Amino acid sequence: MEVTVAMAVGVMVGLLPVVGLLAWWWNEVWYALPEKFKLSGTGIRLPSGHMGFPFLGEMLTFLWYFKVVKRPDDFINSKRRKYGDGGGLFRSHLFGRPTIIAFAPAVSKFVYQKNDEFILEWPSVELVGPTSLVAVNGPSHTRLRSFVTNAINRPDALRRIASLVQPNIVAALQSWAQTGRVNAYKQVKKVTFENIGMLFASLEAGAELASVDELFRGIVKGVRAQPLNVPGTAYHHALQCRKKVTDVFKKELEKRKTMELDGLGSKTDDLMDGLRQIQDEQGNRLSEQEVLDNIVSLVVAGYESTSLSIMWSTYYLAKYPDVLRKLREENMALRKNKAAGEFITSDDISQLKYTKKVVEETIRMANIAAIVFRLATKDVEYKGYRIPKNWKVAIWSRYAHTNPENFQDPMCFNPDRWDVAPAPGAYQVFGGGSRICAGNMLARIQVAVFLHHLSTGYKWELLNPDAPMIYLSHPIPTDGVEISIAAL
Ligand code: HEM
Repeated sequence: MEVTVAMAVGVMVGLLPVVGLLAWWWNEVWYALPEKFKLSGTGIRLPSGHMGFPFLGEMLTFLWYFKVVKRPDDFINSKRRKYGDGGGLFRSHLFGRPTIIAFAPAVSKFVYQKNDEFILEWPSVELVGPTSLVAVNGPSHTRLRSFVTNAINRPDALRRIASLVQPNIVAALQSWAQTGRVNAYKQVKKVTFENIGMLFASLEAGAELASVDELFRGIVKGVRAQPLNVPGTAYHHALQCRKKVTDVFKKELEKRKTMELDGLGSKTDDLMDGLRQIQDEQGNRLSEQEVLDNIVSLVVAGYESTSLSIMWSTYYLAKYPDVLRKLREENMALRKNKAAGEFITSDDISQLKYTKKVVEETIRMANIAAIVFRLATKDVEYKGYRIPKNWKVAIWSRYAHTNPENFQDPMCFNPDRWDVAPAPGAYQVFGGGSRICAGNMLARIQVAVFLHHLSTGYKWELLNPDAPMIYLSHPIPTDGVEISIAAL
């Protein structure tokens, strides 16, 4: 009996390396080998790389660099050391799919420009809404995009938004200074959401808005989770949150329709009415579902990203006092021309040259969208390399911003680097091509307005300047940027 058990253990131990080897080559044989066969003799190659274990692919390596050793850029650096640069592409298997990693700016530009060949595919369309901008492709996308950008990203919309967001920002900063010590991330999120509620659907700050905020947090968690609609999962919870959020906006929309029918007019200049009223050249308007889906998806796209950018600005300015000094000088000069309590305008902001550089540098270093995904709808050739149909393309934006080949001394917060335009394709914080972030100017203006009030009215310090970083799902110091803050 003992001999049999020992033999079984021996066989198992002996087989382990074989099983390990099989597992290690499984994806290569399953995905890469057929492509290599197809390509033999054509002079076209599959990008270099290794596709890792079945199902997991290279996720363990990815998590090792992003979560364990916390050197996210070494995920790409280690591949470059191993395989060379190979046209700026690698093959891999990530997030459950065979993937081509595009790490060089020229490849990202190529992918962003080929809309038909590389489409945006959301695993969770029901969460962001099937008729939202992010969920549609082709002509539907072009049509919807002009509605949305008109409502949030054009100069007249920005002029209005710049003045509307200021009362909440001013009030928030005053209350931070009264408290004396705050968690910048939490507090920035609070004020950003108050502004979103007001700008998007004229929702007043208070208990109802706070509960909508909670619902959105649930949706965002679901967007990042596996799309598994089973009770107990983040995705299932997110779908419930999404339904409740839609109900809140639907109720608001119905209220406006009733008022209009009664001849009272709803008379707001928020996003909801903006989207309802905008007409295209043929006089067509958005359907009610399009209005609701796009409000929800704009909150999802703009809430966390804007909050993180503002949080990072407080962090970097505390770490770089010379930058803060120059920023303060420029903004103080503007304040001198304003009456006490008078708000700045978007035209003022366009004159704040140094402030605009600080905004750009903050967003570059924040690396909010580290990777942008596309799906190849057909086999595509790029400089002798094959990107196979149905494989994902992971545009590694983070690497573009942290690679010293693109930005000198990339981890140094240096707004003056923006005196010279970056190399084409090296600055991809807002994506590129026809899907470039629809709220990029809205985001920039909100950061600039915040910086104006923060730098002219307050001094602050990081309480944990050496707090370690986490990189997933977004880069953020572990303490959420705890600061002590007081009026100047
Ligand atoms: C600093 C803050 C922000 C960053 C870093 C950012 C980043 C991005 C990126 C990288 C994309 C491209 C995604 C892709 O191609 O798959 C994108 C798209 C988008 N963003 Fe932003 N974003 C920010 C703020 C905002 C804001 C404030 C809004 C609106 C309220 C917004 C709305 C959108 C929308 C609607 C799209 C999809 C555009 C399309 O598919 O045509 N974003 N954003």
